[in-house]
Amino acid sequence: MIVLSRSQADKLLNARETGMGTISVTPDLGLTKCEVNVGEDGVRFPDVQWLGWDEVMRIRSSDVGCFMLEEGKLRKIQTFSEHTNRHISLMPTDGAPTLLVAGFPMHRIKGTDPSQDTLTKIETISPVIGRVLDTATGLGYTAIEASKTAEVVITIEIDPVVLEIAHLNPWSKDLFENPKIEQLIGDSFEVIQGFEDGSFSLIIHDPPTFSLAGELYSQAFYHQLYRVLERGSRLFHYIGDLESRSGKRVARGVVERLREVGFNCIRRHPEAFGVVGVR
Ligand SMILES: C[S@@+](CC[C@H](N)C(=O)[O-])C[C@H]1O[C@@H](n2cnc3c(N)ncnc32)[C@H](O)[C@@H]1O
Repeated sequence: MIVLSRSQADKLLNARETGMGTISVTPDLGLTKCEVNVGEDGVRFPDVQWLGWDEVMRIRSSDVGCFMLEEGKLRKIQTFSEHTNRHISLMPTDGAPTLLVAGFPMHRIKGTDPSQDTLTKIETISPVIGRVLDTATGLGYTAIEASKTAEVVITIEIDPVVLEIAHLNPWSKDLFENPKIEQLIGDSFEVIQGFEDGSFSLIIHDPPTFSLAGELYSQAFYHQLYRVLERGSRLFHYIGDLESRSGKRVARGVVERLREVGFNCIRRHPEAFGVVGVR
C-alpha cells in the first residue's frame, strides 16, 4: 500500500514541470523512499501501481488529507465513526501523521510533531519498564514508544474506526506487529474496572481534549488509575498547554482530583503538556 500527501504531490507535479524521468519520493509518509517514473499520463510506482495526474492534483488540493493507493484505487484516509458520531481522518505533518477526531488533532503539531510529542511525554516517566497501561491507543505512538523498553504494554481504544485508520498509517505498523503490545477495544472507563489492584508499573493517560472525553478526567476514573497502579509507580496524564487559560483551568481540576484519590508528588510538565503523579 502506498500512502501520499500534499508534499509528495507537490514534488511529483514539480517533476512533471521540470521534465519527466525518474525521481525519488516517499511512499509511506516519510519512512522510506522509492524511485518513481514520472510520465506524461501520470506516475508509475515500483510495484506497478499507477497514479494519474488528476489523482495527483486531488492529493495536492488537500492540506489535511492522507491518501492511500491500493490496487489502482486512490482513497482519502478518512471515515465517519458511527460509534462516536465523529469524523476521523489521518492528517499529514512534516513527520509522523496525526489523527484528526472531529477536527481536533490527537497529537501536538504546532512547533513540534507527533513523534517528538510522543518522546516528550514518555521522557516524563522514563525509565519505562514493567507492565504499562496506555489508556488511549489512538495511532499507537505512545504504546509503540513504551514497548521499546517495557515488558508489556496494554493499550485501550474505544473506537474500532480509529484502529482501522491506524492500520492504514505506515507509522503505526508496530502497533499491530509488536508482540509486546496487547490491544483492547473498549471504553477505558469500563475496561479498567476489570484490572487487578496494583497490576501496572506505569500508566500513560493520553486522552482526547476535556470537551471530547470528560469522563477520562473524572475523579471516578482517577480512582481506578490509582487502584490499578503499583505503590510507588507513576502516571503521566496529558492535559494540553498548561500555560493557556483553558489548560491552566483543566490542570487545576486534574491536580485537585488526582490528589483527592491519593496521588502524590504531582509535578507539572509544561514541556509535555501534562502532569506526572506518583501512587
Ligand atoms: C489523544 S489520542 C491518543 C493518542 C495516542 N496516545 C497515540 O500515541 O497515538 C486519544 C484516543 O483516545 C480514544 N478514546 C477516547 N475516549 C476513550 C475511552 N473512553 N476509552 C478508550 N479510548 C478512548 C480516542 O478515540 C483517541 O483515539
